Amino acid sequence: MKKILILTGGGDCPGLNAVIRGIAKRARKEKGWEVYGSIEAFNGVMNEPQEIVRLTSKRTAGIHVKGGTILKTTNKSNPIHFPVVQADGTTKFVDRSDELVAKLKKLDFDAVINIGGDGSQKISKVLYDKGIPVIGVPKTIDNDLSATDMTFGFQTAVQIATESFDKLVTTAESHHRVMIMEVMGRDAGWIATHTAIAGGAEICLIPEIPYDVNKLLKRIHLRYKKGRGFVNIVIAEGAKPKEGTVTSTAGEKGSEHVRLGGVAYQLSKQLKDAGCKAEIRETVLGHVQRGGTPVAFDRLLASVFGVKAFELVLEKNFGRMVALKNNQIVSVTLDEATREPNFVNPGSYIVQAAKGLGISFGD
Ligand code: F6P
Repeated sequence: MKKILILTGGGDCPGLNAVIRGIAKRARKEKGWEVYGSIEAFNGVMNEPQEIVRLTSKRTAGIHVKGGTILKTTNKSNPIHFPVVQADGTTKFVDRSDELVAKLKKLDFDAVINIGGDGSQKISKVLYDKGIPVIGVPKTIDNDLSATDMTFGFQTAVQIATESFDKLVTTAESHHRVMIMEVMGRDAGWIATHTAIAGGAEICLIPEIPYDVNKLLKRIHLRYKKGRGFVNIVIAEGAKPKEGTVTSTAGEKGSEHVRLGGVAYQLSKQLKDAGCKAEIRETVLGHVQRGGTPVAFDRLLASVFGVKAFELVLEKNFGRMVALKNNQIVSVTLDEATREPNFVNPGSYIVQAAKGLGISFGD
């Protein structure tokens, strides 16, 4: 019997279960393969006792419709940068990759499929370089990986954000208010830009284009010129003014990232301080953008990625990550996969089109 190990790492994302099911279903079409899952990313392998479950057809049936991940996940146990709390309460990060490689070799899997974002694929690369047959599958709602035209989870996040935006428009109109809606995306403005266009925002603020508060004020005044106006703003959690900084809090213990969130309140204060007379309300969407059932496109992309990942295993084409490029499902090296992030290019057509629709980026 040949054995394959699947795991999901980093933040959860709609579509993870569809990838798991895609891999498992494709594997079942071949004779002699057993599919296993490691619980909570590599913790299932690293922890004693280990938590590795057999992914039978009963376990994976119908899971493509479910959000989250049946294998659970974590963004606080990176094996190449593992947090160890010291006696004085500080956290030291250590490289436990050799220990992980030894454990994986002992378990003797014929392939490991690592479903995760940028950080997870960096782990894939280290493991592959140390002799583990790894395949990567990209995931993130932020859509910030340049090796693939799109990641699954992104469309679901945009759909949720757009539906929320629509709801804020009707209340903004009724109360003649300025509504600020903050969306996720870390340092990339993809969710914000797509939501602003789909929802019909007046203002869209993204990390790639620092904004000038006075320009925003002008845009707002224009909307209130004839009396009772209203304005709907989408702001990405990583957006920053031309002067000043982004709101972030230190990451939780063990987490490598600072936590973003709260720029909606920061912007609200900046607008008031700059003389905005209209009533302002703030909504921080947060994790609802990552929850619930994936939209059809994300189910499709994730399922197809799963099938492709297993086919790379059959071909013994390891050290690669599946990707969507020019409408084709392809694979790229793990080097390419982790080389550079995918940010919104301020000179790109999507930004130009948004501006053509009258959306101000405050630049
Ligand atoms: O990367 C996905 C993401 O949802 C970002 O958009 C957000 O900044 C971050 O994860 C939140 O992380 P956590 O779930 O650890 O708070």
